[in-house]
Amino acid sequence: MIDELIFNVENITLRFGGVVSLNNVSLEMRRGEILAVIGPNGAGKTSLFNSLTGVYQPQEGRITLSAKSGRSVSVIGMKAHRVSSLGVARTFQASRIFGALTTFENVKIGAESHRGIGIAGAMVRGPRTRHGERESDELAVDLLDFVGLRSKANLLASSLSYGDRRRLEIARALATRPQVLLLDEPAAGTNPSEKLELTELIRKVRDERGVSILLIEHDMKLVMALAERLYVLNFGSVIAEGTPEEIRANEAVIEAYLGAASTAGDS
Ligand SMILES: Nc1ncnc2c1ncn2[C@@H]1O[C@H](COP(=O)(O)OP(=O)(O)OP(=O)(O)O)[C@@H](O)[C@H]1O
Ligand SMILES: [Mg+2]
Repeated sequence: MIDELIFNVENITLRFGGVVSLNNVSLEMRRGEILAVIGPNGAGKTSLFNSLTGVYQPQEGRITLSAKSGRSVSVIGMKAHRVSSLGVARTFQASRIFGALTTFENVKIGAESHRGIGIAGAMVRGPRTRHGERESDELAVDLLDFVGLRSKANLLASSLSYGDRRRLEIARALATRPQVLLLDEPAAGTNPSEKLELTELIRKVRDERGVSILLIEHDMKLVMALAERLYVLNFGSVIAEGTPEEIRANEAVIEAYLGAASTAGDS
């Protein structure tokens, strides 16, 4: 039962001075699912991701991670790189690609950082076995293929379109061979056709790579098409949990978020 949960979040509260970013939040993420967290700006979605990845340390509650089956660990108090090494990868709300490096090098950094060189070491090509380096090269090529960027492997990342950058970030996160991938607004800033491609890619990550997905996204079309279950945050609290159908019909959610989101358009 417990092993079916990748993340078990129990009553976490996160405060910054007087600001309560997360208020007694509980959430269960099952292995293999595509789970979404939605809610208005400032609701605490990114704070939740930061808490799950060891970037923020909630003052109260518990977060149990069972990324690699059979091993459960407590996340609160753990450093971010340690959480990452346990099979948790993420992308960021604001794009964080290295524009001066090629597409290929950006993905390779993900692979190398996971081999223990660290981002800085990976960038200056720290001394490592040829075997390990070849492995990273192969993984990077495979992942570029997977996300549809192989033909752009040698272009500078700064020359990529916005949609391509977002795919590159997913490839780089996958290079750490995660069990679970946290995506913070992966479709932000993309056009409608790029959104469709991203929807397909995210589903493919779960279906073909077996990676569980936790998704923050404001685009309701995308999120309702992808997510099997959703949590809704408002002012740091969970106000609803359920299937897309249940969430769409939930009065509190419509009032707090969906009403506003649907009038804001399908952008
Ligand atoms: N490092 C921090 N220091 C102080 N306050 C913070 C910090 N991080 C988040 N907060 C506060 O926590 C609250 C939730 O912010 P968060 O970024 O988690 O919201 P969000 O749901 O991701 O919003 P958005 O949809 O705009 O990205 C906000 O009031 C924010 O100002
Ligand atoms: Mg956010």
